[in-house]
Amino acid sequence: MTLAVYPGTFDPITLGHVDVVTRARTLFDRVVVGVAHNAAKRGRHLFGLDERLELARASLAHLSGVEVDVVPGLLADYCRERGAGAIVKGLRSGTDLDAEVPMALLNRDLGGPETVFLAAAGAHARVSSSLVKDVAGHGGDVSGLVPDVVLAALERELAPAAARPPAGRP
Ligand code: PNS
Repeated sequence: MTLAVYPGTFDPITLGHVDVVTRARTLFDRVVVGVAHNAAKRGRHLFGLDERLELARASLAHLSGVEVDVVPGLLADYCRERGAGAIVKGLRSGTDLDAEVPMALLNRDLGGPETVFLAAAGAHARVSSSLVKDVAGHGGDVSGLVPDVVLAALERELAPAAARPPAGRP
C-alpha cells in the first residue's frame, strides 16, 4: 500500500490541485493532501486553516483513497510519521521546478521520502491560488479555475463589506 503526501498551503484549493491529486491517485494507493500552516505566510492567508481543510475536503470528496490532513510542522517529519513513500508536487513550468528542486533535496536530507513531480494538465498550467485570489478580489470570473465550493467561499470572503448583510441579521 503506497501512500504519498501532496503538501501545500491550499489557500484555496484550485482545479489545478484537484488535477494533481487525481493524477497522483493513478500512481499511489492513498494520497494525503497535507495542508501546511506555513509559518512564513501566517497572517497572509485569505482562508484560515479550518476553512482551507474544509474546502479541500469538499473539493476532493468524489475521489477515493484521498485524505486531507494538517501538516503541523516539518513535512519530512510528517511523512516519516505517516510512513509515506513519496511527496507529490505539481509542476506548471520550469520556474516551478527551479523552486521545487531545492525543497525536494532538503526534504530528502531531512529524512523525508523522494519527491515525485507531476506535470499539470495544459488547462491548469496557468492556475495558482495567488492568481485566483487576485482575479477574484478584483471582481474577475474564476469559475473555470476553482471547484464550485471554493467559488462560493471566495464570493463570501471577497464580497465588498457594503454588500454584506449587517452582522447579526440572517
Ligand atoms: O502551496 P505552497 O505555499 O507552495 O506550499 C509550500 C509547502 C507547504 C509545501 C512548504 O512550505 C512546506 O513543505 N511546508 C512545511 C514545513 C517544511 O517542511 N518546510 C521545509 C520544506 S523544504
